[in-house]
Amino acid sequence: MFHNADFYYFSPAGGTKETGEIFCAGVSEHVEAVNLGSRDQEIKQPQGELAVIAVPVYGGRIPSVAAKKLEKLEGKGTRAVTLVVYGTRAYEDALLELNHIVEQREFQVTGSAALVARHSIVPEVGAGRPDGQDREEILEFARKVLKKAEEHPEGSVKVPGNYPYKKEMTVAAAPISLDSCSRCGKCSSVCPTGAVRLEQGVTVTELKSCILCMACVYNCPERARVLPPSMQEAMEQKLGPLKSVRREPEYFL
Ligand SMILES: Cc1cc2nc3c(=O)[nH]c(=O)nc-3n(C[C@H](O)[C@H](O)[C@H](O)COP(=O)(O)O)c2cc1C
Repeated sequence: MFHNADFYYFSPAGGTKETGEIFCAGVSEHVEAVNLGSRDQEIKQPQGELAVIAVPVYGGRIPSVAAKKLEKLEGKGTRAVTLVVYGTRAYEDALLELNHIVEQREFQVTGSAALVARHSIVPEVGAGRPDGQDREEILEFARKVLKKAEEHPEGSVKVPGNYPYKKEMTVAAAPISLDSCSRCGKCSSVCPTGAVRLEQGVTVTELKSCILCMACVYNCPERARVLPPSMQEAMEQKLGPLKSVRREPEYFL
C-alpha cells in the first residue's frame, strides 16, 4: 500500500467520486481528496506518492472545466493513475485526452481505467453501477497497480482513443427550477461553472456557461431542478436501448 495518495476528482452527480474512492481505498492508507468541481477551492498540488485522477466522460471527451483545473497541476514526476468514468454509452477519446494532460503536467502514468457508473442524465442506464462485481475488479486493479509500482520505477501506459479528439459536445439547454424551489441557493453553490445564480430571489441559469453536468439536479434538497421535459424525453429515447446493456470496465497497465 502507498501511505498517502491525492485523489483529484470531478464528479457533479457523484458516480465518479464513488468509483474513484473504491480504487483509492485499495491503494493507499491515507487519501487527500481534491474536488475539481469546487469553484472557490484553490487547487492543491500533489503531496503523496500517488495521484489518482478521476473524471467523467462527456460526449466522449473529458469536461473542459476539469481539464482546465488539471492543467494547473505540477506532477514533478509523481506517479499517477487515471480513471475515466462513463455511463455505458462509450468513452471514446476521454482516457487518451486525460492521459495527455496528465503526462504534459509531468506525472508518470502507472495505470489507467475506463470504469462504469450510472448515466447521470438517464440513471436507469447503468443503474446500480458501480456494483459488487465492479468493486472486486477495481480492487484487483489496485493490487496490480501496487505490484507494478514495486517492480517498475518508471511508468507508462497505452490507452485507446484518437487524436485529434472527437469534437467537444455542444449543450443546447440547461436545467430549470420547478415551483417547489425554495431558493436556498444550493444549485448555485455546487455549479462548477458558475452558470446558476440567485438574482432577486429567482434562480437564473446562464445557458452559455451550463455544461449540463447535473450537479444542481443531484444536489437540490427539494428535487426542484430538472432538465426541460422535452430534453429529458429526447435523452431517454436516445439512451433507452442501453438500459439492458452491461458494459465491462477496461484496465490498462
Ligand atoms: C453532459 C453529459 C455527457 C455525457 N456523455 C457521456 C458519453 O459520451 N458516454 C457515456 O457513456 N456516458 C456519458 N455521460 C454519462 C456520464 O459519463 C456518467 O454518468 C458519469 O458517471 C457521470 O459522472 P458523475 O456521476 O461523477 O457526475 C454523460 C453525462 C453527462 C452529464
